[in-house]
Amino acid sequence: MEKAKQLSVSAIKNGTVIDHIPADSLFTVITILGLEHISNQITFGTNLESKKFGKKAIIKVSAVYFTEEEINKIALVAPAARLNIIRNYEVVEKHELTLPDEIEGIARCFNPTCITNHEPVKTRFSIISQKPLRLKCHYCEKITDEEHLTII
Ligand code: CTP
Ligand code: ZN
Repeated sequence: MEKAKQLSVSAIKNGTVIDHIPADSLFTVITILGLEHISNQITFGTNLESKKFGKKAIIKVSAVYFTEEEINKIALVAPAARLNIIRNYEVVEKHELTLPDEIEGIARCFNPTCITNHEPVKTRFSIISQKPLRLKCHYCEKITDEEHLTII
């Protein structure tokens, strides 16, 4: 008899599975989504084997379906991740993550004198490169790169 495929992290009935997270981005993803503040059931695993990365991480959140803004946050810090929507144990949607050309209110501008760091103005960037990540501020035109990225 064929042996059933073993899951390292149990299947969920309803919710979202964020798969193919590079292992070293797991805790960043947890933090930017504010998962430490929600009371839904959450399971995660890290340093799991992956053909693509060597090591990957996975997060499963029951009964949560992320908003577009939250999905864009994941795309900024873990662009290779994949989002699986689960309903009644079935994967009903699978999304690769893509960043829009512009993002609003997600990241901070790296320039300390930028108006967005002094006035209640929502940050706004155009994404001039995704890999390596380079965000150009709509207001001061300075570039925020991956090393200086702070998610709001
Ligand atoms: N999953 C889950 N609960 C379910 C169904 C699926 O947690 N009820 C998880 C699986 O463990 C997997 C992800 O959702 O991590 C995607 O499921 P599936 O598409 O069936 O797996 P794969 O084909 O391995 O996905 P991929 O091709 O994206 O690697
Ligand atoms: Zn700026």
